[in-house]
Amino acid sequence: MERRNFIKLLGTGAVIAISPSLIKGTLRAEDGMLFKSYEKVKLVDKLGNPIKPSKLKKEVTYIFHYPHVSTPCLLIDIGEPTSKNVKLKSENGQEYLWKGGVGQNGSIVAYSGICSHQLTHPTPKHSFIKYIPRDEKTLAYKNGGVIVCSSHLTAFAANAGCKNLSGKAEEPLASIVLEVENDELYAVAVLGPDKFQDYFKSFKSEFKEFYDGKRKAKKNIKGQSTTVELTKYSKDIVSL
Ligand code: FES
Repeated sequence: MERRNFIKLLGTGAVIAISPSLIKGTLRAEDGMLFKSYEKVKLVDKLGNPIKPSKLKKEVTYIFHYPHVSTPCLLIDIGEPTSKNVKLKSENGQEYLWKGGVGQNGSIVAYSGICSHQLTHPTPKHSFIKYIPRDEKTLAYKNGGVIVCSSHLTAFAANAGCKNLSGKAEEPLASIVLEVENDELYAVAVLGPDKFQDYFKSFKSEFKEFYDGKRKAKKNIKGQSTTVELTKYSKDIVSL
């Protein structure tokens, strides 16, 4: 099992290791950190079988929902080890530390699919946000290997906590904290500026169409979350 520790960055530059198992609940509310643990949820395929981290296709964008039934997340095995212990900053200057990818090679990452600029996100109808493989080109950045929101051509570092690299976004995409246990994948927490409250205020008609209303859309996901390739989730995918 991979149990990930989090490091609190203090104003003095000193660091303190905090184990999520000791924290429980809302760190953000307690001390302003951008970390919130939720129910541990297993990622499964459409038939309910566990997603095997060792069987994920490399550099393919998968979609699951966490921590709410309507909040989409991107899951990617970027095919090579990520950076580790990346210092990130929210728009309002709060610092946090992204520990790195999980899985055998430390190459599996998950991020909120809600863009930190103007909340573009994948729906069953369309998606403007996805991972661009390393050998593909994008207008948003000098090379692939990045997550691109094609709404306003913003690139995020898939291998470094989704730090904003170019374009309009002023802060990273929030990270979904993953655990691997017996070659099964779990989502356990959200780290970084998550945008969920703005999202719930902004897409009322969409929640009605896909989730039978906002109240149901806001519910926390329980037990397991269905995980599919983006190409099987969104009908139209825009990638620039
Ligand atoms: S909404 Fe994503 S870059 Fe503007």
